[in-house]
Amino acid sequence: MSDNQEYKQFYSDEATVYERTRYRTSYGSLFRQLHYKVVSDVCESIPADAQVLEVACGTGHTTRLLNSLGISTVACDLTPKMMVQAENSIDVSKAKTLFVQTSAFGLPFSDNSVDFLISTRFLHLFGRDEQDKLIKEFRRVLKPGGTLVVDFDNLVARWFYAIPHFFYNILRYRRLAPDSHYNTPKHVSALLTNNGFQTPTLYGVGGWHLYLVKIFSNSLAYRLGLRHRFAPLRILAEQFVVVGQ
Ligand SMILES: C[S@@+](CC[C@H](N)C(=O)[O-])C[C@H]1O[C@@H](n2cnc3c(N)ncnc32)[C@H](O)[C@@H]1O
Repeated sequence: MSDNQEYKQFYSDEATVYERTRYRTSYGSLFRQLHYKVVSDVCESIPADAQVLEVACGTGHTTRLLNSLGISTVACDLTPKMMVQAENSIDVSKAKTLFVQTSAFGLPFSDNSVDFLISTRFLHLFGRDEQDKLIKEFRRVLKPGGTLVVDFDNLVARWFYAIPHFFYNILRYRRLAPDSHYNTPKHVSALLTNNGFQTPTLYGVGGWHLYLVKIFSNSLAYRLGLRHRFAPLRILAEQFVVVGQ
């Protein structure tokens, strides 16, 4: 898939099953816990009056976390059916969330207007040239010194799991190869620094081998998962959450 129309169609079809298939499976719920821990730690530094933008909010996985932390957010996505799920799932008494339908390639916000921009499980949909365009667009709307939080799928873990991944793609999506793009830590750091972000920090999140540990103990899998945030285990993580300023 490469263009907005194809993604809009794909995610319109996925909207009602997205949460269940991504975050309510045995591994998915562990991933959610680990992801929430990294993101909530990063969000501790957000001042109360900050302008916060979430790009590609989907069904609200990260939107709900921001909302539960009392952070008012503008959340946007290309696919209205995904955003409806997000809108229905947030607690309006905790914080304000405004939903905007837009493509991330042309955000309807002024230059230097956002203090904190977060986008989760989004950039892996695109190849390197498009990732670069998106990071440029994020840089444009961020104020100087603003914080960017994005994530990437880990190329090393992709090869480590090549065989189970192959069968997962056939069984789940009826296709031979994953429709994802994978990055190395080196490429991720270069992508951000080339676009004016200083000293990006990478945190590892998840790792499919944790699923095997979870069969025996959820808390052990969680504690081991937390160790994947940093080297050396970070190299086996499913994703890198990257924070740049
Ligand atoms: C894998 S989901 C991620 C959803 C959510 N952020 C999460 O962490 O679960 C990808 C989302 O990107 C959205 N999307 C795809 N192309 C987009 C674009 N060009 N602009 C904005 N959103 C887009 C899709 O509609 C979908 O909701």
